[in-house]
Order: sequence, then C-alpha cells, then structure tokens
Amino acid sequence: MKTSITQAGSHVGEEVTIGAWLANKRSSGKIAFLQLRDGTGFIQGVIVKSEVGEDIFQKAKSLTQESSIYVTGVIKEDTRSPFGYEMDVKDLTVIHESTDYPITPKEHGTEFLMDHRHLWLRSNRQHAVMKIRNEIIRATYEFFNQEGFVKVDPPILTGSAPEGTSELFHTKYFEEDAYLSQSGQLYMEAAAMALGKVFSFGPTFRAEKSKTRRHLIEFWMIEPEMAFYEFDDNLEVQEQYVSFIVQSVLKNCQLELTRLGRDTSALEKITAPFPRITYDEALKFLHEKGFDDIKWGDDLGAPHETAIAESYDKPVFITHYPTSLKPFYMQPDADNEDVVLCADLIAPEGYGEIIGGSERIHNLELLEQRIKEHQLEPEAYKWYSELRKYGSVPHSGFGLGLERTVAWISGVEHVRETIPFPRLLNRLYP
Ligand code: 4AD
Ligand code: MG
Repeated sequence: MKTSITQAGSHVGEEVTIGAWLANKRSSGKIAFLQLRDGTGFIQGVIVKSEVGEDIFQKAKSLTQESSIYVTGVIKEDTRSPFGYEMDVKDLTVIHESTDYPITPKEHGTEFLMDHRHLWLRSNRQHAVMKIRNEIIRATYEFFNQEGFVKVDPPILTGSAPEGTSELFHTKYFEEDAYLSQSGQLYMEAAAMALGKVFSFGPTFRAEKSKTRRHLIEFWMIEPEMAFYEFDDNLEVQEQYVSFIVQSVLKNCQLELTRLGRDTSALEKITAPFPRITYDEALKFLHEKGFDDIKWGDDLGAPHETAIAESYDKPVFITHYPTSLKPFYMQPDADNEDVVLCADLIAPEGYGEIIGGSERIHNLELLEQRIKEHQLEPEAYKWYSELRKYGSVPHSGFGLGLERTVAWISGVEHVRETIPFPRLLNRLYP
C-alpha cells in the first residue's frame, strides 16, 4: 500500500511503500540508516543486511544523496525520534539516481545556499520554515473567515502609490505609466465601503535600496480594512489576529518548531491584549536608555525598536507618530493635530515592525489638502477621494508583513529564509 511519511502513524505494524528522496545515510557492514524525505515529512529507514539479503543491502549502501526511490517496509514506533516512527525497510527501487548533489551535509556559506535556493528548499530547516509559513496563511484565512471578513483581491498593476512615491517599481502599461503595487490598501478601502470587513493577501513590491535582515523587494502582505472601525477597534483586531496565528502555529507545527530549535515558551506568552505606548512615551523611554541622538519628529530605527521591544514579552504597539513621518491618508488625532491615529506593532526578540496600520482620513477636504501637501497627482486619487463623497464613514485597517511574521515565529534570523524565492537588492536568481 502506498502512503506518505505524515501518514506513517496510522500504519504502525503494516507494510507500506513510500516514494521518497534520500536526504542522508549512515551505514556499517550490517546495518544502514537512511534519512528519507517525501515532502510531507522526514523519517528514518533502517535496513538490516541479515534480513534483506546482500543485493538489497548493497543497493541501499550505494544510494547517492537526493536519489529518488520507492521504499517498502514496516512502520514501527520509535520513541527516540521527535517524529515518533521509523521504517524497517524490506525493499527498495531506485527511480532516479542523483549525481553530485551540490548541498552536502557539511556547512555551506549563505551566498552558495542562496544560489541553490531551488535545491536548498529541500533541507530540513527550510522545509520547517515553509510549513510554518503555510500554517500562518491557513490560520489567517480561518481567523478572518470566522470573524466575518470577505477576501478581496486588489490589483497588482496600479496608477497610485499609498506609501509614498520614492520606492515604486515603474513599468509601462501600454501608453500609460504604471507601478507594481506597494500596498493594496487604497483599493481595500473601496472594498470595505462595499463589503464592510475585508482582507487581502497578496504580493507587494518596494524598490527599497535596503539590505537589512528585515527587507525584501517583493513581500507578501495581509491587509484587512474595516468600515465603522475607529483607532482602538483596529488595535483589537490586530492583537486578536496575531495571537491567533501564533497559537495556531504552536498547535499545528510542534515538529517544525522543534526542528528549528525555537524557544516555544516565548511564543506561549503571545496572547491578547498587547501593551501600547505612544511615540512620545517611546521617545522618553529611549532618552532614559541613553539614546540621546533621537529627537521628536525622527523616525524610530531598528535599534530603537529593539530596545523598546526588549522591555516586553509580547508584541508592543507604538501609537500616535508625528504626522510628518507617515503617509498622506492617516487620520489626525483630534486632541493633537501634530500626530496621527496610527500604530506600528513591534515584534519581540528584535524582529521589528510586523504591522503598520491606522485610522484613515474620512473628511474629503482634509484628504484633498493632504494629497496636495504630499505632491500627489489629484487625478490619480480621484476615485479614492470619492469614497469620502458618498456616505463617508470612519474606517481603519492595517498591513501585516508575512515574511517578518514568519521570521519571528520560526525564530529565523533573516527574512530571506521565510519566502520560497526571495527577491533581494542584488538577487533575482533563481
Ligand atoms: O508599514 P507599511 O509600509 O504599511 C502599509 O503598506 C499600509 N498601507 C498597510 C495598511 O494599512 N493596509 O507595511 C506594512 C508591513 C510592515 O509592518 C512590514 O511588516 C511589512 O509590511 N513590510 C515589509 N516586509 C518585508 N520587506 C519590506 N521591504 C517591507 N516593507 C514593509
Ligand atoms: Mg510601516
């Protein structure tokens, strides 16, 4: 009977066949240990010469790394491995013999691994990160569906720029100019006026000349937008959502977290509500900590965010940033027009900002004034302004960066390992 590695647990004591690749092997004169992977998981195959005979044993011993095979054997419980099962191999058939697989069990440099990303994805660690990414995506759909949100897909080719014009990928759209979307937000606001509570999940593009461990040129964003939600309502959705995905990964990805050596006790603490501090309070805290250079009106850099995050064991909201630091669409605070009703959510353990969000301007005159101040082309934002002309309502939303969230939850240092094929400043291959 054909089965897969994840299904092994329901076949204990039975003889099954699994299509697999040889990840690694160890052998002596009498016994060989095959590290097998089939995409669904990893299992050890044990092959004993005195049981299978000389021919089959020699076939196993001469297997090369990443050769594809069908292995047949009996599934046994194995309390020593975190997976819990192994296979007592009886027979094997080689499907394709692999030669000179470049990624050997020894250490390789990052650039070498990145050049071989198409193969590196097969490794134990990359497999675990991709499974966690998948669980976060699955939990995202579960959370927003259960909360009554409708999934809406904004366009990728756009004529407007929500987050400022300096980081746009430009392209020709026949005779017109177009940009690759840097955020679906403006379209999601239109969708919220039609469907109430909406969310998007799609690729976004930033021509940022940044080479940090938090920056990708192409990344995936989840962007919810809610009609009639004000500033505080927005933060509540965010803390509920982030807690939900962390708890889902803890529940459904124990094996992967173990393989990555992730400290899960830090993740168990991630439950709503999350702490909140204002930008002013953040500045006061930073001055007390000896960051003398930063003054009111300056943006917070990675070291600042990390210093703040270190005082909490949950993600922390930094709210009410100076208006001058933020995009044109953010609603000013009624008590202090110099700041806006926005929040960045900073992940613990130095992973930085994972969410940017705000209440949006719903007054037409103010929005038109801001479009002018930011020297945006009013014609390109005509449709967006019109949302404030026909039954304008307070509304709010946010964007969660998937890769930074995967990095934090997986405990992986750099975002390049959290997306199958990262697009980086100097890398378009593979
Ligand atoms: O803070 P950002 O720029 O916010 C927006 O784009 C809003 N329009 C979202 C909204 O309100 N609908 O980006 C949101 C998040 C960041 O917090 C970060 O997690 C991620 O997107 N992000 C990046 N991730 C990887 N590489 C980059 N270059 C990123 N830029 C932003
Ligand atoms: Mg931001």
